[in-house]
Amino acid sequence: KFEKIWLVFGIGSLLVFLNVVGVSAFYMGNQPPSCLTTIDPEKVDTTKPFNKPGLHKVEGKDWDYELVFVASAFSYNPAKVVVQKGVKVKIMATTKDVIHGFEVAGTNINMMLEPGYVSEYVTTFKKTGEFLILCNEYCGVGHHMMSSKIEVV
Ligand code: CUA
Repeated sequence: KFEKIWLVFGIGSLLVFLNVVGVSAFYMGNQPPSCLTTIDPEKVDTTKPFNKPGLHKVEGKDWDYELVFVASAFSYNPAKVVVQKGVKVKIMATTKDVIHGFEVAGTNINMMLEPGYVSEYVTTFKKTGEFLILCNEYCGVGHHMMSSKIEVV
């Protein structure tokens, strides 16, 4: 008798849960947060500024530099970059092939790079030192070797 009550309760809560997820996803249009700009994955290498990865000084924007990263299995381009302490940097990153992660160890910068999309993050490095960039999305056999470095001077 008790088993039956629990069974009904279990199935009932499962249905309630599925409904909540379904309603919020499809009816309310809830989607994962994004600050993404679309680009054509075929043109990653020719679309400005992704044809020149690295740090670029910019004028007339809310940030001083744009730091462009292009990820591909199993590395980041550039493999290392030197940034000045205290300047406002907009990190712009994308991937040429599969989904990669972009986590700057020791900071709260943690992005997902998706083919055809640009992930952006504006930040100011306040401490000097070396910051490791790691891939935290499993992307294949070389996943654990994928890294880059930001050196703040
Ligand atoms: Cu790239 Cu894991």
